[in-house]
Amino acid sequence: MTIGWALAAALVLCVGLVAGKDRLRVVYGWNEMNFKYDNEELRWQAIEKGDFKPANVVPFGLDVYRNRLFITLPRWREGVPASLAYFDLNDNSTKAPVLTPFPSWVAHSLTEENPELVSPFRVSADRCGRLWVLDSRIAGVLEKTKLYGPAQLLVYDLHNDNLLRRHVLPAAQTKQGSFFANLAVDDGDCENSFAYLADLGSPGLVVYSWQQQESWRVQHHFFHPDPMSGNFSIQGIEFQWDDGLYGLALSKPQPDGFATLYFHPLSSTMEFSVNTSVLRNKTLSTSNDIYREFKVLGSRGVNAQSGAQYLDTETGVLFYTLPNLNALGCWQISSSYQSQDRVYNSINNLVFPSDVKVDDQRRLWVLANQLQVFIYDDLYPGSINFRILSASVQEAIEGTACNVPKKLSDVINRIGEVINTFPGRKASDSSSGASTFNLAAVLLSSCLLLRSWLL
Ligand SMILES: *[C@@H]1O[C@H](CO)[C@@H](O)[C@H](O)[C@H]1NC(C)=O
Ligand SMILES: *[C@@H]1O[C@H](CO)[C@@H](O)[C@H](O)[C@H]1NC(C)=O
Ligand SMILES: *[C@@H]1O[C@H](CO)[C@@H](O)[C@H](O)[C@H]1NC(C)=O
Ligand SMILES: *[C@@H]1O[C@H](CO)[C@@H](O)[C@H](O)[C@H]1NC(C)=O
Repeated sequence: MTIGWALAAALVLCVGLVAGKDRLRVVYGWNEMNFKYDNEELRWQAIEKGDFKPANVVPFGLDVYRNRLFITLPRWREGVPASLAYFDLNDNSTKAPVLTPFPSWVAHSLTEENPELVSPFRVSADRCGRLWVLDSRIAGVLEKTKLYGPAQLLVYDLHNDNLLRRHVLPAAQTKQGSFFANLAVDDGDCENSFAYLADLGSPGLVVYSWQQQESWRVQHHFFHPDPMSGNFSIQGIEFQWDDGLYGLALSKPQPDGFATLYFHPLSSTMEFSVNTSVLRNKTLSTSNDIYREFKVLGSRGVNAQSGAQYLDTETGVLFYTLPNLNALGCWQISSSYQSQDRVYNSINNLVFPSDVKVDDQRRLWVLANQLQVFIYDDLYPGSINFRILSASVQEAIEGTACNVPKKLSDVINRIGEVINTFPGRKASDSSSGASTFNLAAVLLSSCLLLRSWLL
């Protein structure tokens, strides 16, 4: 009888856990992206001339600074009139905001001798009011490829949108096949900031020092793709990718100013880390003595190749995108308590999660863009193709294993209590508290297992 009630209780709990809840809300959704032209006629002219082909404009990276949400729109194909733009978060008159080119229309003009911006994949807004833009400078990745020079790092002042820095990577720091699509900005000290730039094509990491105004290239085996993790299968589209260093995320700086950089190749299910004190020292990081300075954090599991990631420094939760699983994962990386879970998954709302960020108000932002359909098939303009989801960090991790419980045993005890107070269960039942506790523990573990298997 006791076992019966315990099972019934466990079933109810299990269903509750399995059903989960929508921790993220879809806040923006677009069938196609649109730009703010000075007038409607200019917009039509751009479309007629082929300068603007709405079907070729795909949002890819995002970040938020104050009331502006920045979006990158890489030039995979022709007809992308501006590759970086923003909209105003205070304008809630629409769920499909029109984009304003950043910093200006002319910065995106490819007819200029040396265009300011060609094709950035990701940007990072720092706490000092600067926007760091990593421009691959490769237009037409999927058709009529044109290189405008080595990748460059542009830094804008978000108080007036002026360009503060333009650092073109020296030829020796880019290799055959280099492709820079991700960056992390180490902004603990505004005057002594660093940017870490990931090369996915010829696996490597370029470190840029704001103060020294120079960069250097770091090599490590952990930057390489895992040949056994190249299989991708998303909503019936199968493909193989062998991309190296990709997702980057920085921990909170320690009192000594150094942080930990977490990183992974795209074609890999492993997560690694390195102390930024190693990367910031040009002599050390470019020497052959750093192999052992790089650590293995662990595995995300089967099919858990990950793209972009971001670490919330307050909670110590690493949020990572899972394209194969239409999901956003989380990893509590505090040294005392490590665990992973799923924040959200949806075969409708999170098809190819492409970027994830936490802004300075601790709001989590996730962009999903159905990239595999855009690359290998055709997007259907009659339905929503691109979505931005959001939640506060606390809402996002509520009820997941990444939200560090005071003590795991508290949770198990609570389940024990629920079972003990279940209606019909006689107070005189002789089963001891301890055995209920054990049973509950076993059931909870099976529940969690079942849940992680189902999600
Ligand atoms: C927009 O959002 C703000 C803050 O969330 C709210 O105060 C305002 O009433 C909203 N405006 C409209 C037009 O819904
Ligand atoms: C990749 O997927 C194909 C077909 O889905 C399968 O046959 C192959 O074994 C997979 N390879 C690896 C390394 O997982
Ligand atoms: C990072 O390296 C510095 C300098 O060697 C060291 O003082 C610090 O403890 C290291 N941080 C971590 C988290 O290991
Ligand atoms: C950088 O590393 C080199 C080689 O390990 C070391 O000699 C030097 O003291 C380090 N520089 C700083 C500023 O820590």
